[in-house]
Amino acid sequence: MIKPHGSSVLKPLYVDDDHIRKNLLEEAEELPDLLINSAAAANVVMLGGGYFTPLEGFMSLDDAICVAESMHTSDGLFWPVPIFNLTDSIDKIKGANRIALRDPNIIGNPVLAIMDIKNIEFLSTEHINNITEKVYGTLDSNHPGVYVFKSLGRYCVSGSLQVLNFSYFESEFRGTFRTAVEIRKEIFELNWKTVVAFQTRNPMHRAHEELCSTAMERLNADGLVIHMLLGKLKQGDIPASVRDSCIRKMVELYFPANTVIVNGYGFDMLYAGPREALLHALFRQNMGASHLIVGRDHAGVGNYYGGFDAQTIFEEIPKNSLDIEIFAADHAAYSKKLNRVVMMREVTDHGPDDYIILSGTRVRELLSQGIELPAEFSRPEVANILMDYYRSQ
Ligand code: ADX
Repeated sequence: MIKPHGSSVLKPLYVDDDHIRKNLLEEAEELPDLLINSAAAANVVMLGGGYFTPLEGFMSLDDAICVAESMHTSDGLFWPVPIFNLTDSIDKIKGANRIALRDPNIIGNPVLAIMDIKNIEFLSTEHINNITEKVYGTLDSNHPGVYVFKSLGRYCVSGSLQVLNFSYFESEFRGTFRTAVEIRKEIFELNWKTVVAFQTRNPMHRAHEELCSTAMERLNADGLVIHMLLGKLKQGDIPASVRDSCIRKMVELYFPANTVIVNGYGFDMLYAGPREALLHALFRQNMGASHLIVGRDHAGVGNYYGGFDAQTIFEEIPKNSLDIEIFAADHAAYSKKLNRVVMMREVTDHGPDDYIILSGTRVRELLSQGIELPAEFSRPEVANILMDYYRSQ
C-alpha cells in the first residue's frame, strides 16, 4: 500500500485513548484559551485525522514562508500550502506555554485541541502579501480564498497539537465524515491496490461521473473513493448534506456494486487552484489512494487559473515530492452528436456548437433560475434531489 507522506506510518494528532482524552479535556478547562477561526479549526480537524501527516501541529512563520515560496518546510519536507493558526487576539495567551483551542463552529465554543506554543509571531503586510501571492497567485480580494485568508489575523501561533474531537463533522456527517486513518484501514481491508480518489465540492454532474469511470477503466483500478469536501464553501455552493445524497444516488444507480466508497473530509475550500491540487493529492496519499483525478480548473474559481494549471504544477515539482500520481483528465463535455459525455480532445469532427459545456457553476445557475436540469447535465434521479433542495429555499 502507498506510504503516507514523509513518514512510514500515519500520524493522526487525535488522542485516541478515552481516558487520556478525558484528562486532557479536564486540563484544558484550566488553560488559557484561544477562540480560533474556522480555517484554523479545519486545519486541526485535518491534522487530527492524519490527513496532514507528518506535521505535528501549526507551522511557524519561517516554515509558512518557506512553504509559500518553495513548497518545502525549513526541514525540507514537501508541502504546498502553509498550515496556519492566525489570529488577532493574543492578549489571553501571551507568555503561555500550553493553551486550549476553542471551536468557532459549535455553539458554546467547546475545546477542540490543546496546543503547546512554540512561537507567536507577527505577520507584516509584506508577509501577508507575499504568502497570498504565492499560494493563491493573486492579491485580489474578490478571490474568495484571498478574502478569507486576509481576514484571518496578523499573529501566527505555532506549535504542536493534541486534538480532542473532530468538531461538527462527526455529528453532522456521521455516515460520511471519515479520517485518513479510517479510509486507509478500509482500503487495506478491501485489498484495493490501485485506488482512485475523486475530490469534489459539487453534487457530481455527468462530467464528474465520466471522469471517475474513465479513470477507473484506464487505470484498471480496484476501487474509487469519492472524497467530498464537508467544510465551508463560498456563497451559492450547494450544502454538503445535499451533495452527499446526490452522490450516493448516482453511485447506487450508475456504478458497479462494491467498487466505490463515498465519504468526506472536514476542511474549508481554499479555491487556491494549483497549490490546493497539490495539497489535495498529498492528503489523498495519506488516506491510501494511489491516484487523484485532476480535471479542468481543479479547486479553481472565476478566471484566476488556467484550465489545466492544476495539472501542470505536478510536472513542475521535483519528481520525488509525492508518491501519489494524478490522473490528468481532459475537459469533459456532452457531445450532441454522439449523445454522451466525451473527453473533448478525443473526439474529432466536433465544432464548438456540438458540445454542451458541463460545469458545477452552470448547474447552480440553472437550478437557481428554477430550470430543471437537462439529462445532458445530470442524471434524472440526481436532478430531482437538487430541484427539491432549490424549491425548499
Ligand atoms: S473542485 O473545486 O473540488 O475541484 P469540482 O467538484 O467541480 O470542484 O471538481 C471536481 C473534479 O472534477 C476536479 O478535478 C475538476 O477539475 C474536475 N472537473 C469538473 N468539471 C469538469 C469538466 N467539465 N471537465 C473536466 N474536469 C472537470
